[in-house]
Amino acid sequence: MAVIQSIRGTKDILPEEIKIWQYIEKTCRDISQKYGYSEIRTPIFEKTEVFARGVGAETDIVNKEMYTFSDRGGESITLRPEQTAALVRAVIQNNLLANTGALRLFYIGSYFRYERPQKGRLREFHQYGVECISSSFPESDAEVILLANSYIKSLGIKNYKLRLNSLGNDLTRKKYLEVLVKYLNSNISKLSQDSKNRVSTNPLRVLDSKHPDDSEIILGAPSILDYLDTDSLEHFELVKKYLDAAKIEYILDSTLVRGLDYYCNTVFEFQSDLLGSQDAFGGGGRYNKLFSELGGKDTPAVGFAMGIERLILILSALKENTTKNSDISAVVVPMEEKYYEYALVVASKLRDEMNISTQIDISRRSLKAQMRDADRLNAKYALIIGEEEFTNNSIMLKFLEEKRQEFIPLEQLKNYIS
Ligand code: HAM
Repeated sequence: MAVIQSIRGTKDILPEEIKIWQYIEKTCRDISQKYGYSEIRTPIFEKTEVFARGVGAETDIVNKEMYTFSDRGGESITLRPEQTAALVRAVIQNNLLANTGALRLFYIGSYFRYERPQKGRLREFHQYGVECISSSFPESDAEVILLANSYIKSLGIKNYKLRLNSLGNDLTRKKYLEVLVKYLNSNISKLSQDSKNRVSTNPLRVLDSKHPDDSEIILGAPSILDYLDTDSLEHFELVKKYLDAAKIEYILDSTLVRGLDYYCNTVFEFQSDLLGSQDAFGGGGRYNKLFSELGGKDTPAVGFAMGIERLILILSALKENTTKNSDISAVVVPMEEKYYEYALVVASKLRDEMNISTQIDISRRSLKAQMRDADRLNAKYALIIGEEEFTNNSIMLKFLEEKRQEFIPLEQLKNYIS
């Protein structure tokens, strides 16, 4: 029978890779906790409306990339392509804003987009993200960018770029879009087919195009930063001032518009040259309209998400090795079948009384094979059991790093192992 393969664009995370995932996730939790963010977990699927309304009907995500299907009851269901809209749904539904000032949440999970798979781009991928809800002030924009920056730094990633832009408020965008559409229309013959289509459906996204035909037109496009109204400008100036005070470097980039429709004011993206064409490993921004668009009361918010697979690609390129430490500290090595019962007693003693992670051979292999295993596992101790050890209720304790061994009565084991 043919072997069944996994779905294109999905990846098994194998035991040999799990260390780096655990390290990345632990760092997410540590940093989030340091900034006072609590974890939230929402379902993997939602009513399609959550994303169609939340992310925006004219975005690539909603138009082309969602895994949408009817369930057996005829309801349109979508595997979440991102977390923000679903999280806002959950905050509204569970009334999480009732008694608090700012609500600070973080999440780690898997997300689904039907994109063309390539390096750093999958159909099931993972994100770590945070959302800071209910403050309209630039302090909260700065807080999430600082948090993202602390996170990246604590993973040991150094050479990356933070691109920053402001999309202003509704008034700004209305004014700017008129100018932009006029400009794009006057150059329409030079644009790629995708961008031509977007001029009428989602003109801001033309600025985000990577198509070589579009680059010259994008370069000459009017900058949204020249159209910010007083409020938007004040907000953005303060965000920049706070980042300057925190010595966070950023590049102002008026073509940064992001692929989701809910943004206003501050938007940002983290980029690394180590990633190839999918070079953004994180991004986010402010979204003040999403709550009301999903039926809640007007609530300002700001957040970001990082792609975990892309962080791993960067760490592997940097050769950050987090997999050196072993999970197993001790291996118990019975030399013959008749010592297995005693070996199980020794293993239990190590695990239960001494809190030592312990592995025992279950394939009745030779001493040599078992010792090779101890080496592969990077264990600190091997506890060998032969005839003499068995009859004297003892073990031969090998200190694997120091390459020495001692014959020890079992009740004294505690004094030798830490
Ligand atoms: P996003 O830019 O669509 O934003 O995704 C954030 C990150 O997820 C990207 O920078 C990238 O690292 C990773 N990512 C996205 N798509 C893929 C894919 N197909 N394969 C691998 N990695 C991918 C959002 O999702 C927003 N919800 C972020 C946000 C939170 N804005 C405000 N709060």
